[in-house]
Amino acid sequence: MSYYEQHREAFLEGLKAFLRIPSISTLPEHVADVRRAAEFVAGEMRAAGIHGVELLESKGHNPLVYGEWLGAPGKPTLLLYGHYDVQPVEPLEEWKTPPFEPTVLGDNLYARGACDDKGQTYILVKAVESLLKTTGKLPVNVRFLLEGEEETGGEHIAKYVESRPARLKADAALICDTEMFAPNLPTICTGLRGMNYCEIWVQGADHDLHSGMYGGVAPNPIMAIAEILTKLKDADGHILIPGFYDRVQKPSQKELDAWASLPFDEEDYRSKEIGVKELTGEPGLSIFDRTWARPTFEVHGIRGGFVGEGAKTVIPARAVAKVSTRLVPDQQPEEAFEQLKRAVAAACPKGVTVETKFIHGAAASLIDPESPFVRAAAEALKQYFGTETVYIRSGGSIPIVGLFDKYLGFPSVLMGFGLPDDNLHAPNEKFHLPNFYRGIEAVARYLELLGK
Ligand code: BES
Ligand code: MN
Ligand code: MN
Repeated sequence: MSYYEQHREAFLEGLKAFLRIPSISTLPEHVADVRRAAEFVAGEMRAAGIHGVELLESKGHNPLVYGEWLGAPGKPTLLLYGHYDVQPVEPLEEWKTPPFEPTVLGDNLYARGACDDKGQTYILVKAVESLLKTTGKLPVNVRFLLEGEEETGGEHIAKYVESRPARLKADAALICDTEMFAPNLPTICTGLRGMNYCEIWVQGADHDLHSGMYGGVAPNPIMAIAEILTKLKDADGHILIPGFYDRVQKPSQKELDAWASLPFDEEDYRSKEIGVKELTGEPGLSIFDRTWARPTFEVHGIRGGFVGEGAKTVIPARAVAKVSTRLVPDQQPEEAFEQLKRAVAAACPKGVTVETKFIHGAAASLIDPESPFVRAAAEALKQYFGTETVYIRSGGSIPIVGLFDKYLGFPSVLMGFGLPDDNLHAPNEKFHLPNFYRGIEAVARYLELLGK
């Protein structure tokens, strides 16, 4: 029996222990839990035989976890990246099992972070552990760099990477934080969207008002937000922010051809994966174009006024909308924010004032599929899964990918093991356990192939 087969139970139990820690990075009350998750994974790395494991601190930030194994002179160095923070769990009542009590149901492990990204980060640690425990060495050099702020924009790791520390010298990054296009279909992701996350604050009167006494004369900030939002995007999903599409690049013909041959049933996607009556968005563009290669404008929440049970007749003094734009190559985050800010100001109705606050931003990234590190990854996956690897993009964002390229000058290999129905960021997030075990072995095979 191989090390992988022998340790399935231990791998699973270890992952469950990791998942029990509620490391939600957006919520200040979980800052100690986030740190516990960092310490947990650091402990796992030490036990695996990785050297120099330490938490890298920056005041007011969650720690980075660093570790290295550099005993393969002359061989390439891979930077293994993952994130140990997770998204909030609301709405809690929609979870079938508690989000921080990892539960196996059939082939799936349910918990917040099961797939994004604790399960996939754990794959990296266990792949390295398996190689070190069975052969006493690794076929290539590795450095681990894990962060605890990916879901909130990744400020700490960005600062660290921008300072270009010598200890991040590598030839490529390996990141398991994306999805397979379909079960049993090995997948490399070659593009991610970027994003700007913002808040639109609207102020009306200087205090809340009785809506009977003042309705008819007082401006309503929630209505103002609605008016502003509808002026930023039309019913066809076309963004109305002036200049927003100016830099947008079309995908290459090669990419379009690759996407056209993906096994995809739009009807299934609509009814099963999304569960909606009708899809929306820009007419005449494919689903892949709309989700991978076009920018978006979305509203995530509106706060203001009265949202409790029953009725309260109030004209609120202020309201705020949380919004984001997804960005594609070659849009520039700072410029795109200025464009949004100007469009919001121009759309603001009379009687209220508006302020657009920047929360975090990151550029889109494209990875050259011809990079030898990407080709080797595709080959390793093909050998392991016994079927040709597909290349896709993803609509999601991983801010660090662009920064590795910009500041450290290496490409990122996005080898994901999530599935489209893993419910990332939603209730009942899960990880398909066969993909967890296969991921460990596939990553180990990749390192072996790179070492040859
Ligand atoms: N792992 C995801 C991004 C992702 C999801 C890539 C699915 C490919 C397929 C990542 O953890 C994530 O959720 N990122 C955030 C961005 C962040 C800046 C808040 C996102 O995309 O919303
Ligand atoms: Mn992630
Ligand atoms: Mn995420």
